[in-house]
Amino acid sequence: MAEETKDGPLEDMSALQDQLDELNAQITKQGSHVRQLKKDGAGDAITEAVAKLQELKVKSAELSEKLESDAPKFNRKSFDDLVLRKMFVVPSFEIHGGVKGLYDLGPPACALKAAMIDLWRKHFVLAENMLEMECTCLTPHAVLKTSGHVDRFTDLMVKDPESDECFRADKLLEDAIDNLIEENPTMSTEEKDKHLKVQIQADAFSPEELDKLLLEYNCKAPSGQNYSPSYPFNLMFKTSIGPEGTAVGYLRPETAQGLFVNFRRLLDLNANKMPFAAAQIGLGFRNEIAPRSGLLRVREFCMGEIEHFVNPKDKSHPNFSSIADKGLVLFGRDDQLGSGKTKLVSAGEAVKTGLINNETLAYFMARTQLYMEKIGMDPKRLRFRQHLKTEMAHYAADCWDLEIQSSYGWVECVGHADRACYDLDVHGKATKTPMVATTRVDPPQEIEIAKLTLDRKALGKTFKKEQRVVSSALEALAEDWSTFEPIATALEKEGKAMVDGFEVTKDMVTWAKTSKRVHEIKFTPSVIEPSFGMGRILYSLLEHSFYQREADEQRCVMRFTPQVAPSKCAVLPISSSAETNAVVDQIAAELMESDLSTRVDKSSAALGRRYARSDELGVPFAVTVDFQTLADETVTLRERDSTRQVRLPKAEVTPSIFAIIHNRLTWEKLTARYPMVTVEDGA
Ligand code: ATP
Ligand code: GLY
Repeated sequence: MAEETKDGPLEDMSALQDQLDELNAQITKQGSHVRQLKKDGAGDAITEAVAKLQELKVKSAELSEKLESDAPKFNRKSFDDLVLRKMFVVPSFEIHGGVKGLYDLGPPACALKAAMIDLWRKHFVLAENMLEMECTCLTPHAVLKTSGHVDRFTDLMVKDPESDECFRADKLLEDAIDNLIEENPTMSTEEKDKHLKVQIQADAFSPEELDKLLLEYNCKAPSGQNYSPSYPFNLMFKTSIGPEGTAVGYLRPETAQGLFVNFRRLLDLNANKMPFAAAQIGLGFRNEIAPRSGLLRVREFCMGEIEHFVNPKDKSHPNFSSIADKGLVLFGRDDQLGSGKTKLVSAGEAVKTGLINNETLAYFMARTQLYMEKIGMDPKRLRFRQHLKTEMAHYAADCWDLEIQSSYGWVECVGHADRACYDLDVHGKATKTPMVATTRVDPPQEIEIAKLTLDRKALGKTFKKEQRVVSSALEALAEDWSTFEPIATALEKEGKAMVDGFEVTKDMVTWAKTSKRVHEIKFTPSVIEPSFGMGRILYSLLEHSFYQREADEQRCVMRFTPQVAPSKCAVLPISSSAETNAVVDQIAAELMESDLSTRVDKSSAALGRRYARSDELGVPFAVTVDFQTLADETVTLRERDSTRQVRLPKAEVTPSIFAIIHNRLTWEKLTARYPMVTVEDGA
């Protein structure tokens, strides 16, 4: 079936890519050999070595060309035309001229999204007893100030000094590097790698570094002038809550904060058991600076987020063994800055070697991979890219983005971040709410603590009303010697230390390291967060599903799996007689009663034309009611990708399709049960 025709050329291509990588490595080696010979003044040997280098370069150029011409062709024009014509996605407010970065989903995409979300809930929320919530989009200032979004949720922006048009500075740098490489096909691999390493760090540079690089790469504004210096632009949509207009609020830029601020209630609801996860599906809003790339960068999008709360000292996962053997394509930070190549590693191995920081993070990465495969994403176009150290928030322990390859390149679609205890900590401190969990230790344990003696007078003199806040913070830290130790060291060495933003001096506190017998330990949980951009996933799925029939390029098909396909079955009469139509209506009604969405097409168009229409919507099956039906109650059932047909009793249509959708039957097994029908499928 279709899977095979898809895999074949891709496998050939990966063999070609390996040959090309090997050749490029030889070029690098030969290049350095030539340099050494030149340094040594080696005479004739130089000419010979240069000739060999040239020969390798020619071979590499030939192979690159072949690789490009062999790549499965993505026909953007036909794809865009289909997506718009069939109303998968349309620009919002189109008749008013539209707004950049806003799109509406039409009927087939709504059904596709609903199926994706349904599978997401089953695969994550239901399978793991996650606590699902639906929090509000409108969020008060205090919450997002505390989380750091008000101060730091920014991208660096530059302007064209003449027109005031705004651009995202890191994207300009990325584009400039793409162009430079494209315009210089003979550029050495070493030089290319050097530029690619700058490119991969584009969103981690400081404004000063970016300004310098934009000049270095000769980036000019459309007016021909240099861009303005870059400065941070906050991506949140600001509004006010209430008629007075005084209470500042924002549309949430992520769904996560709603779950964090509900942590205490969620833990209580979970009978104080750890670890546990909360989940939420809902809208996020970001005032993106210059949205391009269609649905991939929009200003309002659906997210699916999971916050898994875990003891920071034990990030093992109870179900880890179920996915330990799952192979993941990993692009670790060392490889991004070194070999430039990904590695296929099992989740278990990646945790064992320390490539992925912990079991829980790796567990979710593997579950994400399985989810993508379930919804029909092409596994060869999935990889996990680790954040570079410079890219990660200071508090994060490790982050991996699931990237999906589409015609726009590799795009982050699911972030997996170990956010440590940052979020609970900041909300806890700002609201003076203890965001802690407790684990019982049995038998009781001796733990090291700091025994404090506070000089209340000295504390009161400096901190006045805030004295209690500072002393409670010190006492909380003293509960565990390992958290108090850095404060003790700073006080000893420098005479002062920062505690929750307050400068504590040596005269305010003395301490002794001691131990205490405890039956339970309190801790602020770490959070491991997979964050899904449902819109990006949906768009990537549209691209991965799209193909044109080899025999006829005009015939476009969406290869949706039966599980996510917007419609499961088309029902088509071969004639317009009342008798035929009655059978069509009866079959359609039966299918719908079993929750199988059905598309009846009674139009007078030729049957092949009607098959083509349902292929464009990705309907996996089509039933045709023909003259024989009226005689023997059988119909034909056609599978979209192979276009093969079987003849079966009409009463067996619904149970067969139902069984396929619920993974209890495959099309191959079904074809063994019934006679095949030989027909022309042409439009
Ligand atoms: P990017 O670097 O591409 O802007 P991000 O790192 O800011 O993305 P996160 O904050 O990790 O993204 O958001 C989680 C997920 O939300 C992303 O993996 C992505 O799928 C999705 N997402 C983020 N911004 C957008 C957007 N403007 N349009 C559509 N989806 C988005
Ligand atoms: N099932 C009839 C046809 O495809 O022609």
